[in-house]
Amino acid sequence: MTHADAKVRHEELVTQIRKHDYAYYIQAHPTISDPDYDRLYRELSDLENEFPDLVTPDSPTQRVGGEPLKAFKPVQHLAPMLSLDNTYSQQEVRDFVARVQKLVPDETLEWTVEPKVDGVAVNLRYEEGKLVCGATRGDGTTGDDITVNLKTIRSVPLKVEEASRLFPCPDLFEVRGEVYMSREGFKKMNTERAAAGDETFANPRNATAGSLKQLDPRTVAKRPLDVVFYGVGKAEGDNLPQTHCDWIELLTSLGFKTPEKVWVCRSIDELLAAINELDHMRKQFGYETDGAVIKLNNFSQREKVGYTSKAPRWAMAYKYAAEQGQTKLNAITVQVGRTGALTPVAELEPVFLAGSTIARATLHNEDEIKRKDIRVGDTVVIEKAGEVIPAVIGVVLEKRPPEAAPFDFFQHLHGKCPVCGGTISRDPEFVVWRCENITCPAQATRRLEFFCARGALDIESIGGIVADKLVERRLVKDPLDLFDLKAEPLGELNLGTIEAPRVFGRKNAEKAIQAIERAKTFPLSRWLFALAIPEVGKTTSSDISKFHEDIKDVANSQLLRDVVAYHEARDKKLKAEAEEIGQRLIASGFAQPSKRKNEKESGIITEVGPVGAQSVLNYFGSEIGRTTLQRLDQLGINPKGTKAEAAATEGLPFSGKTFVLTGTLPNMSRDEASAKIESLGGKVTSSVSKNTSYLLAGAEAGSKLEKAQQLGVTVIDEAEFLRIIQL
Ligand code: IVH
Repeated sequence: MTHADAKVRHEELVTQIRKHDYAYYIQAHPTISDPDYDRLYRELSDLENEFPDLVTPDSPTQRVGGEPLKAFKPVQHLAPMLSLDNTYSQQEVRDFVARVQKLVPDETLEWTVEPKVDGVAVNLRYEEGKLVCGATRGDGTTGDDITVNLKTIRSVPLKVEEASRLFPCPDLFEVRGEVYMSREGFKKMNTERAAAGDETFANPRNATAGSLKQLDPRTVAKRPLDVVFYGVGKAEGDNLPQTHCDWIELLTSLGFKTPEKVWVCRSIDELLAAINELDHMRKQFGYETDGAVIKLNNFSQREKVGYTSKAPRWAMAYKYAAEQGQTKLNAITVQVGRTGALTPVAELEPVFLAGSTIARATLHNEDEIKRKDIRVGDTVVIEKAGEVIPAVIGVVLEKRPPEAAPFDFFQHLHGKCPVCGGTISRDPEFVVWRCENITCPAQATRRLEFFCARGALDIESIGGIVADKLVERRLVKDPLDLFDLKAEPLGELNLGTIEAPRVFGRKNAEKAIQAIERAKTFPLSRWLFALAIPEVGKTTSSDISKFHEDIKDVANSQLLRDVVAYHEARDKKLKAEAEEIGQRLIASGFAQPSKRKNEKESGIITEVGPVGAQSVLNYFGSEIGRTTLQRLDQLGINPKGTKAEAAATEGLPFSGKTFVLTGTLPNMSRDEASAKIESLGGKVTSSVSKNTSYLLAGAEAGSKLEKAQQLGVTVIDEAEFLRIIQL
């Protein structure tokens, strides 16, 4: 094919595909079968492969592509994106209309009413008919440039040409709309995510916001996003529309998806009727709506009425009240959260509300129950807003049975945790009751989560809900039970409920088992931290691990006992004894002499303080610590301290040296460099501290380089590194 022929065919294909896209994505009336569409698309993409210069930014092949972004660039809107005043009261709508009429007393006003779409606001700029930039609202003046993400939405026109009968396409315009995820798309996506063991989204709006924040447009392309446009920002050109309705008509004719229906009203009664009609229709829309937007139709009237700093004076959102219902409160049960927090839950006579049957609702906490004087046996008002958990918002006093008694939280629980029977206490800082028993299964979950957290044993797939369920199903009582888990039952773990099951999944289970296996090889510092011994944070764990061979060495540590003994001796003024122990600690390197000016006698400063040391000794002396040691032994896990490593690498050139790598090296990969360092007895860590010996920095080194310079750590480049290892 000649280049000239290819160019003609390319144009034909682009036009055809665009037409089919419009029919499918905007009008919801496909004009071609899927295989035929695929054939056209493939022909276009083959043609572009052969003649790459034919690719234009608005070719349908360019919707998804490019490398993931590092960050979104800020972009200024040409006209600010304002917000709307809103109300739940029809009286306030009347007041609003009267207020506006007062500002333009002699004019007849025309109002539009349209759905308020519950999604994420965006602003798209078109120049000469081509999409040039798409952004989030941001602070109203500047948003994030998410053009690549918006291009993946098939109903976003990359190019517009035909205008309406009355108006030409403006030379430049900003079009405003709301990106949303259809209810159906949201449900399907959440089900798939759940089956794959991925986290699910709480509602379509969160899912939309989360999707648009993705830096990789290929991820965004897989999310069922759509968009509806309801307005314009800056616009330039001849013969621009001067009313909202004309703009909506122009946008529609340019190929934008616009609101399902726009009412035009000339009186307050018409307006309230439109709001009412919309309320009945809106459940059938593909997107969630939470209100009606009322706008003045005529732009010159809008200018006269004006703006406040945040919102136009000529528009208002009327929000529909969340759906409420009444039902009987049969009982109050108490759930024990992961932090031991006790949350009261309303057990209700099931009622159908806003599309689903509700049998439980949250009661928040004891004070809320008291404040609303909610009693078992009461008829209560429940509310469901969007997809969130329903809540009990009040009591219908007229329906209260005479025997209903005030609810007493402590008495109700007989003063005991409903899960383990342990003592409970009221957290003075918050208004919650908590279970005090650290071995309560509810808290076992917390220990498990900590054990798996980043910085501890890094078993990423086990957190939150997975940890919850492992404990709940009794697969794990103690974190070390993880090492007995098998991929098979783990994959079948139900993370949902009996009515709505969703399994962890085979792939996730295998990933988790791998991470669990890997944890066995982690150094002592990580293990000590992961055991969640009180007072033992990251620094203490790593300080201890530098002076011990392995975990058994820590359990029987003479050094730690000396630290405790030294402080005891000093407190009891047993000078000679303190002196002797102090010398021993200094000789081992675990302490340095201190020369504080205001201290009469010179003392020592130990790497680990007496409180931390005592806590470690207590732990290994306790039942739980002893069992842990035993089980580690049975499992063949013996985490090594850096002291052991030091012995093994002694004499090697990088022995005792730590490296941090950052940026891109010109010739070596980071893995190669790390392997080299380790083979020469050095250690590679991920963050720069004062203990770092060298920072090996390549191109585009960022914050680590800055930190190294601040701390005075030696910074070397690849050439320097190669020179050192030659020595
Ligand atoms: S007009 C100056 N129309 O609601 C007028 N906004 O609460 C600004 N929204 O930021 C907006 N549907 O994200 C308008 N039909 C509609 C809308 C709508 C949803 C959103 C929009 C705006 C927010 C204000």
